[in-house]
Amino acid sequence: MNVLVTGGTGYIGSHTCVELMSAGHEVVILDNLSNSKKSVVQRIEKISGKAARFFQIAIRDRGGLEEIFRKYRIEAVIHFAGLKAVGDSVEQPLRYYENNVAGSVILFEMMAKYSVKTLVFSSSATVYGDPETVPIQENFPLSATNPYGRSKLMIEEILRDMAKADPSWRIALLRYFNPVGAHCSGLIGEDPNGIPNNLLPYIAQVADGRREHLSVFGDDYPTIDGTGMRDYIHVADLAAGHVRTLDKLAGTGGIFAYNLGTGQSHSVLEMVKAFEKACGRSIPYKFAPRRPGDIAVCYADPGLARKELGWQAEKTLDEMCRDVWRWQVFARNNNI
Ligand code: NAD
Ligand code: WQD
Repeated sequence: MNVLVTGGTGYIGSHTCVELMSAGHEVVILDNLSNSKKSVVQRIEKISGKAARFFQIAIRDRGGLEEIFRKYRIEAVIHFAGLKAVGDSVEQPLRYYENNVAGSVILFEMMAKYSVKTLVFSSSATVYGDPETVPIQENFPLSATNPYGRSKLMIEEILRDMAKADPSWRIALLRYFNPVGAHCSGLIGEDPNGIPNNLLPYIAQVADGRREHLSVFGDDYPTIDGTGMRDYIHVADLAAGHVRTLDKLAGTGGIFAYNLGTGQSHSVLEMVKAFEKACGRSIPYKFAPRRPGDIAVCYADPGLARKELGWQAEKTLDEMCRDVWRWQVFARNNNI
């Protein structure tokens, strides 16, 4: 298939491009490089041994999109492009709605214009808000606690309306839990700008001596050790889930939502311990107050994805930490 990957030089997008190319798909990457670097394209090509086409454009650039849809016989779109920092979204809501929601609408309009009606959308477990129970199933109530989450929810709702109005759309809403890890080659991984918001990139920078200590947000949650628990999933498993989703959509019309998670959860302190084991260094940490908006425990029921996509996460916590560390060392040594 010819697949357009928006946000394809980003963290999850780049791993998915590798997976798509290995499965024999032709990939066209679109990214405005607001949160990634062009050199990722060469690294994707190095891993896969195949050429990828790259366009540095934004998803709201109608002219740029027209050029791609006219030039290549795009058959499906995997839509990763978007801003994802929860804190920034609280401070700059309009930027998030404009980039994520308005940008997505323009992309979907262009898809409709060129009759490309197969879409995989990067949603998030954040659309479940603060769930009443865990594990989380796809039919749980949806809500948002910040503009980033609301942008995901709005896009999901727009897509549900589109599927209702035109049943020839084939749409998958993939709700990721906590993506971590990096490609086992060590050539691509998460490359945060500035101070990392997420746990694993922060731990990796502490291990590498770039930050003094980790602040553990909260020690009084009702969990095994008082720290927050999440469903960490290896990005390579996540990437494989997208390829399986394209296979599924090839055979069915309509709109579907799937949790992509492992069904397991780990505390912050368990993650610290696992990372220490992977890198052979100690990770200094200090307890700090709870981070506003955080919930105690979040993990998926991945049963629907297993049943309908034939997909399940395979990689262990040790592999996640080992691969993050390998990538951290590569990125440092190569000034990435
Ligand atoms: P990322 O920032 O690494 O990748 C997103 C890419 O989109 C970046 O390369 C960025 O330059 C690009 N981009 C942003 N706005 C754009 C625009 N208007 N036009 C073109 N390109 C644009 O993030 P990621 O972690 O790879 O996340 C990918 C998607 O998955 C995002 O939509 C994110 O919201 C979603 N998601 C991520 C997580 C996570 O924890 N990483 C969890 C759930 C959902
Ligand atoms: C994990 C745990 C923190 C950093 C976020 C978004 C969510 C989704 C995934 C996109 C929590 C603790 C963290 C630190 C810490 N993204 N922590 N010290 O909050 O589950 O989810 O990323 O859709 O929308 O909200 O992930 O990695 O930030 O935090 O103690 O320096 O680590 O409190 O318990 P989170 P995270």
